[in-house]
Amino acid sequence: MSSVPAKPADLVTVNIDGKEIAVPKGTNVIEAAKLVGVEIPHYCYHPKLSIVGNCRMCLIEMGMPAVDPATKTPVMDATTGKQKINWIPRPQIGCGTNASPGLHIRTNSPMVKDCREGVTEMLLINHPLDCPICDQAGECKLQEHSTAYGRGYSRFVEQKNVKPKRTQLGPRVTLDDERCILCSRCVRFSKEIAKDDVLGFVDRGSYSTLTCYPGKQLENNYSLNTVDICPVGALTSTDFRFKMRVWFLKQTPSIDTESSVGVNTEAWSREGVLYRITPRRNDAVNDTWLADSGRILYKQVKADDRLTASTIEGVTAVPGAALARAGEMVKAGAVAIVGSGRSSVEEQYLTKKLAAALKVSASLVSRVGAGDRLLISSDRNPNVRGALVTGLITALPAQKLAGLAADIDAGKVKTVVSVGEDLTAAGLTAAQLAKVSVIYLGTHRNATSDAAKVVIPTLTVFEKSGTFVNQQFRLQKFAKAVPGPAGVADDLTSLAELIAAAGGGIVSFELGLLWAALAADVKVLAGLSYAKLDSLGQLLDASAWAGLPFCEGETLHFKPAAVPAAANA
Ligand code: SF4
Ligand code: FES
Repeated sequence: MSSVPAKPADLVTVNIDGKEIAVPKGTNVIEAAKLVGVEIPHYCYHPKLSIVGNCRMCLIEMGMPAVDPATKTPVMDATTGKQKINWIPRPQIGCGTNASPGLHIRTNSPMVKDCREGVTEMLLINHPLDCPICDQAGECKLQEHSTAYGRGYSRFVEQKNVKPKRTQLGPRVTLDDERCILCSRCVRFSKEIAKDDVLGFVDRGSYSTLTCYPGKQLENNYSLNTVDICPVGALTSTDFRFKMRVWFLKQTPSIDTESSVGVNTEAWSREGVLYRITPRRNDAVNDTWLADSGRILYKQVKADDRLTASTIEGVTAVPGAALARAGEMVKAGAVAIVGSGRSSVEEQYLTKKLAAALKVSASLVSRVGAGDRLLISSDRNPNVRGALVTGLITALPAQKLAGLAADIDAGKVKTVVSVGEDLTAAGLTAAQLAKVSVIYLGTHRNATSDAAKVVIPTLTVFEKSGTFVNQQFRLQKFAKAVPGPAGVADDLTSLAELIAAAGGGIVSFELGLLWAALAADVKVLAGLSYAKLDSLGQLLDASAWAGLPFCEGETLHFKPAAVPAAANA
C-alpha cells in the first residue's frame, strides 16, 4: 500500500514549494502535497494500490537538508541563514517518495514543468484524439493533465499505432486498447484487491497491449472497479457507455443495500432518471471499491415488477383509500408485524411504534448468503443492526417465521403487516397466507403482494433519505437521488398513518423531527441527527449487542470478534 498511516507522534515537517507542513511520517508525497493545495499530476499512482512508478507524470524535484558527512552537523546557507538543501540533480517520482524529516520538494520548477510536458507528449503520441466521442470525457485524467501540464501542440507527424478497439474483456467491461496508457492500475487492482490475476500486458514498447490471460475473462464481481480507476477511456462500463455525458449527471450519496457492509456509493442521475452507481470513498468501510452486483441495484427502480399503485383486494385504489382500509384492519386487532432488515433506521423506529401501539412484538427475517471476504458480507440485510438499535427486535432474526406460522395456525393472528418481506420466502405456506389478511408495504411484486388484501407501494433506497447501521455499528446516511413513482408516498408517511389508526397517536414522519424523537428515545443515538451526521458515518456504542452471534465473517475493514466457523464458507 502506498502511504503508511502513522501515530500523531510520528509527525514530520516537509517543505512543499516553500510551504512547510507537518504530516505523518511515511505519507506519500502526492498526498502530502494535496494537504497544502498542491496537485502533483499522476496516472499510475492510486492510494489503495501498490506503487509501480511507471507513468512518470508525477516527477518532482527533491532535496534534503545538507549535513557535513564528517562532523554530522548541518551545513548552513550563508545567504539565507538556513540549513542548505541538497537538491538531487535529476527528477524523482513523487508517488515513490514518502515524507521524511526535512524533505523538500519542488513541484513548479522549470525542470518539473519540462518533465510533465515531455511525459504528456509521449503519452499522446499513440493516444487517439477521439475525446469528442470518448465515454471518459469529463472524467479523463489524460485530457485534464494535457490541458493543464501539456505543451498544447504536437511535434508528432508519424502514423499512430493501431490497436484493438471495443474488446470485451468480460461481461461488463469494454476495452479500447488504443487509449490505454499502460498505467497498470487495472492489472494491480485485479491482482491485489479482487485477488483475480487476470489482466496483463503483451508485446513491447509502443506495441504493448492490455489483455486478459489466455482462457481468462475479467468477470469477477469487482470488475467494474477497473473502469472507475482507469485514468483514461480505455476501460468503460458496457452498461453505462454512451448513455449519458457525466457532466449532466447529479451525484447523490447513497449506501449499497446488498449486505451489511454498507458500502458508500454515489448515485448518478439526471432529470429523475438514474444512470449509474459508483463507489464513494470511505477508508473505514469500502476504501474506493464497490461490487459489480451493487452497481446494478438502480435497475430495481424501473423494474417491470415494481409496485406503483395501491390496491385493495387486487383492485387499484387511491393511496388514501388503501391506507384507510389498512387502518381499519389494524384497528380490528389480532395483528402481527413483520418488519425488515432492509428498512431504514427511521422506518424501523416507526415500525416499532406501530408494534407498540398494537401491543405486539415485531418479527424480522434474516437473509444469509456466502460472504466474499471483501465487500459482501454473509448478512444480506443492510440494516439488522438498525433494528436492534431502535429496539424493533431484541434478538437476531431467523430465516423462517416459525412463530408467526404457529400463531396463524392457532388462529391468534388475523392480519399481518409485512414491511417489504415476502412471507412465503420466509416460510409461510400459501394455506397459512390464505388464513390471514395481509397488508403489504413494499417496492416490488411478489407472492405476498399478490395475496395481500391491501398493497401500499413504497420507495426504493434511491427515492428517499434515511440511515442504515452497518456491520461495524456505523450509522450511515443516504439521500434521495430521484423522485419516486407518481402517487407513491414515502414509507414513513404510510407507517405514521398506520400508527395513528392503531391508536399510537400522531408521530412525525419529517426526517428532522423524527430524528429529534430518535435521539431522545434511543440512548446510543443521543445527540445525533440526520442533518448533522457526517457523510462518512458515525460509529455507535455497540456494547449492548456485543454478545450476539452475528453471522458475518471477515470483510475488508471488518473483523468479527469471533469469526463463526461456517461464515464465509
Ligand atoms: S486500461 Fe486503463 S487502468 Fe488499465 S493499464 Fe490501461 S490506462 Fe491503465
Ligand atoms: S504516478 Fe508516479 S510514476 Fe505514475
